[in-house]
This record gives sequence, C-alpha cells and structure tokens, in this order.
Amino acid sequence: MDVGARVKTGVPGFDELVEGGLPQRSNVLLTGIPGTGKTIFALQYLYSGAKNGECGVYVTLDQKRQDLLDQARKFGWDLESLEENKKIKIVEVALDLAGINIFEMIDTAVKEVGAKRLVFDSLVTFAVNLDQFIIPLGFNLSDIDSAYKNRPTDHKILYTGRSDQRATYLLINELSKQGTTNLIITAAKQAGDQLTVDGVSEFACDCVLTFYNELLGSKRMRTISILKMRDTDHSQYIHDLELGKSGCLVRPAEKVYQKSTT
Ligand SMILES: Nc1ncnc2c1ncn2[C@@H]1O[C@H](COP(=O)(O)OP(=O)(O)OP(=O)(O)O)[C@@H](O)[C@H]1O
Ligand SMILES: [Mg+2]
Repeated sequence: MDVGARVKTGVPGFDELVEGGLPQRSNVLLTGIPGTGKTIFALQYLYSGAKNGECGVYVTLDQKRQDLLDQARKFGWDLESLEENKKIKIVEVALDLAGINIFEMIDTAVKEVGAKRLVFDSLVTFAVNLDQFIIPLGFNLSDIDSAYKNRPTDHKILYTGRSDQRATYLLINELSKQGTTNLIITAAKQAGDQLTVDGVSEFACDCVLTFYNELLGSKRMRTISILKMRDTDHSQYIHDLELGKSGCLVRPAEKVYQKSTT
C-alpha cells in the first residue's frame, strides 16, 4: 500500500468520503449480502479506470463473463470494446476444471494489459471450490534453504492444506503482490460474531467497505459504509447507495440522517 497516493473509484459521491480515493496498491474488501451492489460497484471501478488510462483485470468465479458484459452494458459501459483494445481483461475461472493455478492466471492477465486495477469476485466461491485449485506459495525453494539447492530454481512450494481460511489468506497476500489496487469481494455473515463468511478477509485487507440492504418501512434501501481504511480519515456514516441508469451513486450522509428523522 502506498501511503498518500489515491485511486479514484469513478463512483460519484464516494471518493470524497475517503480523502479523494482508495489508497493506491491497497486491498479493499467489499462485503455484503447478495444483491447489495458489490459486483456493480466493482465493474464501475474497472470501467472508469480503463476510460481514464488505468487498465484493469476482473477475475470472476461467481458469474459468467458474458453476464458481466451484459450487466455492464445496462449501465452504458461497453466493456467488450475496452477488452478488444486491451484496456481490461475479464478472467472467467471455470470451476468444473481441476488443478487451476489461479495465481498464474491472475499474474498473466495483469501483465497482459499492464493492469493498475484488479477485482476478485469472490473469496467465498474460491473457498467453496478450494479442491479445484493449485496454490503455489510464490518463492523458490533454492532461495530459502541451501538443503534444496539442487532443485530446479522454478520449483515452487504448493500449499496442499485444505484450510479455507489459510487459502483465503494466501490468495489475498498474492493479490497484494501484483502492485494493483484491488477490490476483493466476499459475502457478509447475516448472523453471528464474524463480519464475513470467510472470517479472515476483514483482517487481511487494508480497507473494508460494507454494503447493506436495509428495510425502511416497506422499501429496501441499499447503503454503504467504510468500516476500515488504513491511512485515511474516512466518513463514519452510513450512506445511501443508489443504482441508477449510469451505475452506482453514493449520497452524502445528511440525506440518511434527514430520512431517519422524518
Ligand atoms: N440496470 C439496473 N438498474 C437498477 N438496479 C439494478 C440493475 N441491474 C441490477 N440491479 C440491482 O442490482 C442487484 C445486483 O447487484 P450486484 O450484482 O452488484 O450484487 P452483489 O452484491 O454483487 O450480489 P451477489 O453477492 O449475489 O453477487 C440486483 O439484484 C438488482 O437489484
Ligand atoms: Mg456479485
């Protein structure tokens, strides 16, 4: 994470709540129950970046590439032509295959477009399908122990444990090595004493944005709050998150306050 440097999300109303944008090269967790707008927020971040000269990669385990393209088009974002012009890359991870080296896939895609932004959607789907993945631990045996000096230098240690939390932690750690500013999506727990279903990402990430879908009378309202953002004097309020014709829009806190008092 680069202290001071900021990355604009492209979501109107959001950046001013966090000193002008996300901390550069940070891991930003998006957590919320289904349908709270996490994927749309992340697509908008990627689209806006690509339009303004910052290429991006969207790694999707949750939805098909085509569904994301269709969803984006609804908001007027032509991701397909951005992809043709190598400004973004959508990596759809096929979970019916075994032995997926997810780190290599991400690394290749980031290098291919020279990505500055990265989205991972989602940690929960990764953990549920853990058996399908190969998880290299990113360092050479020969570098760390002379006992292994005769091994090939590209020989990687593989994580062969089956702990969801350890694997999730390793994945987040790997994403932060890419040098990109990352939006990492997970699911919120609806009851109990931990914030996320995975139970580790809220501690492992530098920033946590919580997406809600609350009942106000007979209407559901989407809101967003910043639970944690390292190195940032951020808003402590819950803000309305509206989905309109051109994507997400975050309202100032006063509106929420007025609404709750009328
Ligand atoms: N064009 C649109 N205009 C307004 N609202 C929309 C539009 N498209 C989708 N939505 C709303 O956004 C919701 C989906 O948002 P999104 O996919 O970002 O949720 P999510 O938090 O990623 O959910 P999940 O955790 O299930 O992946 C839909 O349920 C719908 O309410
Ligand atoms: Mg989603």
